[in-house]
Amino acid sequence: MNHAQRNRLLSAAAHIGALLPLARMLFDLVTARYGPDPIREFTLRTGRTAITLLLLSLACTPAVRLSGFKPLLRLRRPLGLYSFFYAAVHFLIFVGVDYAFDFALIRAALLEKRYALVGLTTFLVLAVLAVTSTRGWKRRLGKNWKRLHRLAYAAGVLAVVHFIWLVKPGVMRPWYYAAVLGGLLLARFPFAKQRARASGDE
Ligand code: HEM
Repeated sequence: MNHAQRNRLLSAAAHIGALLPLARMLFDLVTARYGPDPIREFTLRTGRTAITLLLLSLACTPAVRLSGFKPLLRLRRPLGLYSFFYAAVHFLIFVGVDYAFDFALIRAALLEKRYALVGLTTFLVLAVLAVTSTRGWKRRLGKNWKRLHRLAYAAGVLAVVHFIWLVKPGVMRPWYYAAVLGGLLLARFPFAKQRARASGDE
């Protein structure tokens, strides 16, 4: 298998893997395979997929450093965009299905529930990153593009805080994500300058 074929295969695997949760949700929706509270169930499923894809996107750079397998860097953008996509569906379920676009109620919920406000901030950061992820914006922003896209780590932290704040005390699931994110941050930052100089792959 040559390089081009291998890259295509890797990219196809990432797209298929990222679209599988959506396919499963649509299948479960049309075949009515859901529990007694479908709105909550699909909110949780889209949220979980969004945070997982965000962490996978952030894991690409450390994975390249560990393995030397540079084609993984190409997956950062699609994985980040899919994370944004699931976060957008998650948000739409919240505002459109759960709150029926009642903006007074939505505003009250956002102000009352700190986890929802952090969720919204995460979503806005992901939106900025998605919009500016194109070649045109990369060219326009020059060096600032890299700086701006470091906000992906902030989005990871905010998403984990959102998750921690919304579960009942003692629920461990968000802490597994926090541990993975902590590992990624540790793997990323102390070596950032060294690595950027050595490989120029950021
Ligand atoms: C746009 C603003 C957002 C709002 C209003 C929002 C709201 C919510 C709500 C209402 C829940 C369900 C809480 C429950 O019933 O227990 C939830 C869960 C969740 N959200 Fe968000 N969210 C937002 C953005 C995000 C973003 C951007 C991410 C990730 C990138 C995210 C990740 C999650 C996760 C991981 C869960 C919990 C899933 C689980 O328990 O398995 N949310 N969110």
